[in-house]
Amino acid sequence: MQRHVSIPFRAALFFFLTALPFFTGLRSGLSGRVRADFVGADVCRKCHGIEAIGNQYRIWAASLHASAYVVLKGGKGREIGQRAGLDSPHTDYKCLKCHTTGGGKREQVRTEGVGCEACHGPGSEYFEFSNHASFLDRESAYRKAVGLGMYPILGVKGIKAREKLCKNCHQEERPCAPTDIEEKKRRRLSLSVIADLPTKLKHPLRR
Ligand code: HEC
Ligand code: HEC
Ligand code: HEC
Ligand code: HEC
Repeated sequence: MQRHVSIPFRAALFFFLTALPFFTGLRSGLSGRVRADFVGADVCRKCHGIEAIGNQYRIWAASLHASAYVVLKGGKGREIGQRAGLDSPHTDYKCLKCHTTGGGKREQVRTEGVGCEACHGPGSEYFEFSNHASFLDRESAYRKAVGLGMYPILGVKGIKAREKLCKNCHQEERPCAPTDIEEKKRRRLSLSVIADLPTKLKHPLRR
């Protein structure tokens, strides 16, 4: 028997597929910003684990940001937790706030540490190639991505936003800040580190 898809059905499907982005777009347009969510570093890895575009995943995975969650479970994490009156720092928002993507509020990224999206913004709306990348016109691809939730921290123009982002977590009032003044100074992120990114977390910089 031949399957036959009725005209009204196809019309309805067409309407659904074309109108859906319109309605969701309209809704987010009204609320000012898209409501993007975190997808996790493994999603970014699918492409950013490829050498040809710089393998940012490998560089990140070897950096301390990738172990920022795990460190809460270790001796030092527990010790700092106890000082702050917490039995279980790796489940407490007071620590997760800065030690993981999404501040510990999102189950699916709670244990990944300070992942890609902690610095680049929640990726659910921009993670697809056509929503944030172009080999021909990088600037407009970037602008589109920023409209879809990517943080504007790239390049020289993004330096102020980047400084704010880093210092949100790298600040001296954190419960794990060293008490020793010299050590405190040493740990302070200088603007040159923020501008250049230290070798440990350096991505290939092309901007
Ligand atoms: C389908 C493949 C793919 C996925 C998935 C993907 N990206 Fe990309 N992304 C690319 C490509 C390709 C480029 C462009 C690289 C180039 O220009 O050399 C890029 C560029 C970027 C840039 C630089 C943008 C600019 O304007 O310079 C950032 C930042 C980025 N991606 C972050 C992410 C993050 C974070 C995720 C996960 C939430 C992600 N990407 C997921 C393929 C992908
Ligand atoms: C305001 C953000 C913030 C909060 C809140 C925070 N941390 Fe941290 N934590 C950081 C940053 C940034 C570093 C890295 C500092 C550096 O290496 O210069 C760090 C480093 C650490 C380290 C690495 C060891 C060290 O001292 O080098 C441990 C362990 C740690 N934090 C435990 C905790 C625990 C436990 C809590 C909760 C009681 C907590 N942190 C809350 C931002 C924060
Ligand atoms: C601690 C913050 C931080 C984390 C974590 C992080 N990045 Fe970045 N990333 C940056 C900054 C800052 C830049 C901009 C560098 C510049 O423009 O000079 C950047 C640049 C990039 C670029 C553009 C590189 C280029 O050639 O222009 C890509 C692509 C990228 N990041 C992908 C990722 C991916 C994928 C992950 C996770 C595997 C990740 N980043 C994790 C801060 C971070
Ligand atoms: C979401 C919070 C968060 C953000 C945003 C963040 N960091 Fe971090 N960073 C951490 C934590 C937590 C650690 C310590 C992880 C550990 O010790 O396991 C850390 C570690 C580091 C270290 C390693 C310190 C060392 O002793 O080697 C450097 C350097 C660093 N961050 C630079 C940056 C820069 C530059 C930015 C901005 C582009 C940035 N970070 C943004 C939380 C953050």
